[in-house]
Amino acid sequence: MICFCLICFIFFFLFTLQDNLLLNVLTTTAKMGFEDNKSKQKGVLNCSDPCITFLLLYITCVSAPVGGFFLESCHLSHNAAICSDRHLKLVPKDIPPTVISFDLSKNQISRIQAGTFTNLLVLKDLNLHQNQILKIDNGSFSNLISLQKLTLNNNRLVKLGQGTFDGLSNLLELRLNTNNIAAVSSTAFQSLIRLKLLDISQNHLGTMKNLYMMLQHMPQLQQFTVRRNKLKHFYSWEFTNHSLDLQVLDLSNNPIRDFRITNNIFPNLTCLSIGDPFSVIKMEWDVKNKTFLRQVSSIDISGLHTTLQVMEELLETVNTSLTSLAANGIKHNRTKLINLACSIPTLSQFQFRRGNLRIITSDFLKPCVHVTELDLSENHIKTINENAFKSMEKLTVLRLSQNKLSVVPSAIQTLQNLSELDLSNNLIGTVNCHDFSNQTKLKELNLKNNSITLKDCVFKDLVRLQVLRLQSNQITDLKGAFKSSLSNLKRLHLNGNKLKAIRNGEFNGLKSLLNLSLHQNQIETLDKYSFVGLIKLTDIQLQSNALKKITFNLLANLRRLDLSDNRIQYPENATLTELPFSNLSCLEELSINAQHHRGKSTLPSNFLQGLKNLLRFSARNCQLIYLDKDTFTYTPKLERLDISSNDLQTLSPEHFAPIRNLKSLYISRIALQSLDFLRDAKLTKLKFLQGRHNQYSVITEDVIKSLPSLMYLDLKYISFYCACDNAWFINWTRNSKQTLVNGAYNYSCNYPDNFKGKKLLDLDLKPCLYDVNFISFVSTSCIVCFVMVGSFAYHLMRLQLYCAYYLLLSWLFDSKYKNNQAPHQYDAFISYNYHDEPWVMGELLPKLEGEQGWRLCLHHRDFQPGRSILDNITDAIYGSRKTICVISRRYLESEWCSTEIQAASYRLFDQKKDVLILVFLEDIPTYMLSPFHRMRKLLKRQTYLSWPRAAGQPGVFWEKLRKALQTGNDPSEENVLLTLTGT
Ligand SMILES: *[C@@H]1O[C@H](CO)[C@@H](O)[C@H](O)[C@H]1NC(C)=O
Ligand SMILES: *[C@@H]1O[C@H](CO)[C@@H](O)[C@H](O)[C@H]1NC(C)=O
Repeated sequence: MICFCLICFIFFFLFTLQDNLLLNVLTTTAKMGFEDNKSKQKGVLNCSDPCITFLLLYITCVSAPVGGFFLESCHLSHNAAICSDRHLKLVPKDIPPTVISFDLSKNQISRIQAGTFTNLLVLKDLNLHQNQILKIDNGSFSNLISLQKLTLNNNRLVKLGQGTFDGLSNLLELRLNTNNIAAVSSTAFQSLIRLKLLDISQNHLGTMKNLYMMLQHMPQLQQFTVRRNKLKHFYSWEFTNHSLDLQVLDLSNNPIRDFRITNNIFPNLTCLSIGDPFSVIKMEWDVKNKTFLRQVSSIDISGLHTTLQVMEELLETVNTSLTSLAANGIKHNRTKLINLACSIPTLSQFQFRRGNLRIITSDFLKPCVHVTELDLSENHIKTINENAFKSMEKLTVLRLSQNKLSVVPSAIQTLQNLSELDLSNNLIGTVNCHDFSNQTKLKELNLKNNSITLKDCVFKDLVRLQVLRLQSNQITDLKGAFKSSLSNLKRLHLNGNKLKAIRNGEFNGLKSLLNLSLHQNQIETLDKYSFVGLIKLTDIQLQSNALKKITFNLLANLRRLDLSDNRIQYPENATLTELPFSNLSCLEELSINAQHHRGKSTLPSNFLQGLKNLLRFSARNCQLIYLDKDTFTYTPKLERLDISSNDLQTLSPEHFAPIRNLKSLYISRIALQSLDFLRDAKLTKLKFLQGRHNQYSVITEDVIKSLPSLMYLDLKYISFYCACDNAWFINWTRNSKQTLVNGAYNYSCNYPDNFKGKKLLDLDLKPCLYDVNFISFVSTSCIVCFVMVGSFAYHLMRLQLYCAYYLLLSWLFDSKYKNNQAPHQYDAFISYNYHDEPWVMGELLPKLEGEQGWRLCLHHRDFQPGRSILDNITDAIYGSRKTICVISRRYLESEWCSTEIQAASYRLFDQKKDVLILVFLEDIPTYMLSPFHRMRKLLKRQTYLSWPRAAGQPGVFWEKLRKALQTGNDPSEENVLLTLTGT
């Protein structure tokens, strides 16, 4: 193969050479009558045709795109193919077989065809959530032998036919939530022998038979959710007659009228949900043996519509094991229900939401002595009797969220063991000093979304509090509430209030605080000592305030600081005298992004000074017009830089010289003209580059090559120039194994005009390949072969080539001078070898110039100094009527092929003018003349004078020469002379 190629190359090269480079020579020789060359040329041409075909074939083969690392409609990350929300109608075929998770949610796929997922042998998680799937062909999933999770929620499935899930013998979780499934074939689920979770909620299943069809094949099923279907009864005998391992059974929101269990089918059931808030018929309950549900520890009867007697039976069935009860949305017989529930000695978690309680009297919760977690959210509670919780000594978690409380209920003062209290979303205005006076064990307090204002003493007793949520209240002033209390607090949420300033020492008591949220307030000024005392603080959120000036010099442990959306601005070319972050040597993340435009700005060159451990810096949308090249000299560890949405226009390698550890760079929307700065920036660790919406249109090879670690490139919304300039980039995008080019399929062209709107990756690169690869390949092979053939030729036909070269030159000169009919300045130009100069000077010159009176031109004498030799020679020949060649052996070797003689002989042949007079100084045998092809031809046609033969009678010799010089340029005249003096 390689040999064949090589041979073809050589042939091809010969053809090219023949056809192009030697074209002039060939035409010249053809003109001169060497007809036989033409046939030779023809022969080569014939041979070269198949070679060219082969070459083109070869090039096409080599350059044909192979499957690469760009997905038409998806995005790959850590072996997960993410194709969510892409308007797909079909499952993409170009997913690499190595993916483990495949997200096809939120598309428009309407049918799963057999053979769709053939090569995904290691796929574990397939998500088809929210499509329009109506039909799944038999065996569509049969190749997904490793699949563990399949999600088909929110589709339009009506029936699960036989073989739908064939082959999924390793499936553990199947979700079919929110479809229209009304029927299930008896064999649809037969392969799912390992299934542990089946969710078929929100469908139209109406009969137990359907459930049986599913469950009979799944001995290992543990969690079965059939919420919101149309089951009207549940009879265990109709369902199955052997025990199941089921642990969670959710039958809620089915209009079940009759629930009967006659055999012990769920010996291991721990969670049961049953009840339907929309049901109008009261449910019957019949569990024959009280031991059947003895494992149930958690029961949810929210919305259950039934008689008190049934409720009693139901709770009795489970009352040896129950720990958690949810009875939300039950508005009748509430007191009786509470009595029943709280009489279960094991019950510890009780949820009673949406019961419209309004008032909690002192007796209502009296039986609930064992309850540790009570949730009374969403009950419109306005009043709670101060003794309401008196009996609940064990209570540790109390949720009173979303009620109508206007004060902190004093009833909580009897709860000495509370660790979590949720009073969020109420109407609490003022908090008083004694409100939390007994809560020494409280760890988490949620006061979010009230109308709270503070006092200095409110939290004084909360010595163990760790999390305090005070967001979305009306706090305008901290009033010293944190000055000396809450020494164990770790997280404080004060965001969404109306704070205007943080005074000195305001947080002095919060010695353990790690995280402080102050965003979305109206803070304008921070004092130098605003944060004094926060010695452990690692995170502070100050975004969306009204800060104009910042200095942080106390927070030595701070790791993350968000200052986005404030009013910090600096004049152009400013250098700060007071450094804002001088002491934050631990800071790892700083954000100063802006949401609203506040006019053009700059960053002072020493803005980041002191942040020697900064890893992430973000200054998005700050309307920066300029970035000092020293900006990042203080942050040598920087790994992530986001300067998107600014007005920078240019970036230079100097900006990046101090931050060679950079891994992620965001430079979208900065009006950047070119990515060339990357070439010299040497960001060898850069993995992520996002540069959307910029002005560059060509991505060059050297830019990409300068980023050897790049894994992810996002150049969406770039107006690409769709020409060969981008050919390398396109090819790389198609084939790169390492870098995912995000959204590449949608990159589109803006230039040239006729490509506007076309997709970049649709561009046909073949013409470009000819341009670059083809030309360079051909020229390289040409050079190689030329050198080879050249050296052969030089070795074998040195002289001929030498002559050919001069012949060519002379032909060119002749064409130039052809029409130049200047009057002859000289009678003859003498061409001789310098070895023969004594004869020329001693004999020829005195005779011809001295005696006969001709005007001769000798190069050493008559050539004008300063002009080029060639010009002089051609002028001499074309300015002389005749050229006398003084021929000797040496002359033949050195001068014959010279431009002057060839030009003269050319004149002779081409213009039919008798220009040449040959004078032989020595006898030269004909065989010695044979290499001098044209000389022989001349000798056949032309007369010549021989000096040795004229030894006896020099007078005759000179006379003949005189005659030869006398004749005009008419060849017929010359012929007369020929016969006169014939040799
Ligand atoms: C119930 O659980 C026990 C212990 O995990 C197990 O041995 C038994 O087989 C389970 N019952 C059924 C019917 O699977
Ligand atoms: C209830 O079932 C248990 C075993 O599951 C059995 O020992 C007991 O006799 C049954 N009781 C009645 C009343 O059938």
